[in-house]
Amino acid sequence: MHNVFLIMVVIKNITCIGAGYVGGPTCSIIAQKCPDIVVSVVDLSQSRIDAWNSNVLPIYEPGLEEVVFSCRGKNLFFSTNINEAIEQADLIFISVNTPTKTYGLGKGRAPDLKYIEAAARNIAKIARKSKIIVEKSTVPVKAAESISRILSANQTNDVRFQVLSNPEFLAEGTAIQDLLIPDRVLIGGEQTKEGREAIDALASVYKQWVPEERIIKMNTWSSELSKLAANAFLAQRISSINAMSAICESTGADIEEVAFAIGMDSRIGSKFLKASVGFGGSCFQKDVLNLVYLCEALNLPEVAAYWHQVVEMNEYQRKRFANRIINCLFNTASDKKLALLGFAFKKNTGDTRESASIYITKYLLEEGAQVSIYDPKVTMDQIMLELTDPDLGLDPKKVKRLVTIAPDAYSCIENAHAFVVATEWDEFKLLDYNLIYKKMLKPAFAFDGRLILDHAHLHDIGFQVEVVGKIVSSGYPQPLTPTLPPTTSFFLMKGPELSSSSRAPPTIYG
Ligand SMILES: NC(=O)c1ccc[n+]([C@@H]2O[C@H](COP(=O)([O-])OP(=O)(O)OC[C@H]3O[C@@H](n4cnc5c(N)ncnc54)[C@H](O)[C@@H]3O)[C@@H](O)[C@H]2O)c1
Repeated sequence: MHNVFLIMVVIKNITCIGAGYVGGPTCSIIAQKCPDIVVSVVDLSQSRIDAWNSNVLPIYEPGLEEVVFSCRGKNLFFSTNINEAIEQADLIFISVNTPTKTYGLGKGRAPDLKYIEAAARNIAKIARKSKIIVEKSTVPVKAAESISRILSANQTNDVRFQVLSNPEFLAEGTAIQDLLIPDRVLIGGEQTKEGREAIDALASVYKQWVPEERIIKMNTWSSELSKLAANAFLAQRISSINAMSAICESTGADIEEVAFAIGMDSRIGSKFLKASVGFGGSCFQKDVLNLVYLCEALNLPEVAAYWHQVVEMNEYQRKRFANRIINCLFNTASDKKLALLGFAFKKNTGDTRESASIYITKYLLEEGAQVSIYDPKVTMDQIMLELTDPDLGLDPKKVKRLVTIAPDAYSCIENAHAFVVATEWDEFKLLDYNLIYKKMLKPAFAFDGRLILDHAHLHDIGFQVEVVGKIVSSGYPQPLTPTLPPTTSFFLMKGPELSSSSRAPPTIYG
């Protein structure tokens, strides 16, 4: 068995199962940095593979095209021939999706590992020579053990597998930079001779461009848990600053000033302290829920509740922001045109998974608003797909009646009562807001859910400016229907129910 692994120390052929946001960019960078390695990225989806082989890649990521076009057809190949790619590989990355389960045991919390299991069973069925299997997907702790069991239960005498954990830390929008200059590369594996050989073999691939001190070797479970922990900490930071933003809106404190002040503390640091409409993306919520489920399974209910609050706070923030829009629009959005700028979950990606925009649109549609949407990188089909997803609970006929997709920001906003910045695309900072103001109904409302606009300038133009975590415009209209009984104590109020009339009145520009 030992000899079987010694011959594999030099990796010549890598296969990646799953050509998504992780598999595609990660393997493109490996191909670029390791010209002696043949890299095959395979997927079940013919359309996705066709797109990887075309001039219009299936995902938008700054810098990705240049990397793919420089290696494709040389040592980088995209294919649906999964079996052939498995057979040829010395090392296989499993980069398939691990969404939150929508059915059965653990529904709404546990990760759905059916794609991981299917990939592992396929490897076991096809492989005729020993291989290193690398778990790149984000998985619960001990998933590598399950993969190992599936593989070893099906292995023949002279075929051996070593399973490693090598979680991916790239962030969409900056994936290429993150892959080129990673903060760290984690490799977890069995603490045996064969396990260490496999870890070293994978490390030798990364060493071709990542400084050795950034390649961290550890046991498999630490590696698996570190990925969940990192995403939980990042999500928690966003929920923490968003919780502070609710206090700011009720008191007159300014969330950007507060974030700056606390970020100056070197123990806290300044990154990831931007208040917003809430986090989105395919990972944060899923991975925190994954952690919550793990804690519940380990009979750690207090730890589970602690982390679950991070997700609840995120939902609260989205809802609170949508309520604020409705409140400001005289408590009715019915039949009003509202322009939503941005549908991707963050800038520089076309990914809409779990985007805050989906939920804000949902809440506005439930109020009967006509929502016009513009995003520089998200197609009309993708927006409609998200809004008519049965899990969202909107009537597809209502969506088609009330939602329009605009080709640019100006037509999106024309004749609108309000515009709402939901994604922090740079181009939204550069729009001609004087022109926009002229083309809107009055009073014209500007809602900045990403803190990217020049609020003083907008206020001077005449907009009623509403921003996450601060009060900008004074004297904004009273809701027609007060949302709180007059006796409610200021200190007991909850954010979403705050009416403008009951807020503390500090004015910055008014
Ligand atoms: N997207 C991110 O920013 C990011 C960052 C770090 C980690 N991750 C993790 O990486 C994993 C993949 O995420 P993603 O965003 O790339 O997902 P994705 O949905 O974009 O891609 C997954 C791909 O796997 C394919 N697939 C599923 N089962 C398959 C099988 N048996 N054989 C072949 N192909 C199969 C799907 O068709 C799909 O194209 C997830 O576990 C995710 O949590 C994602």
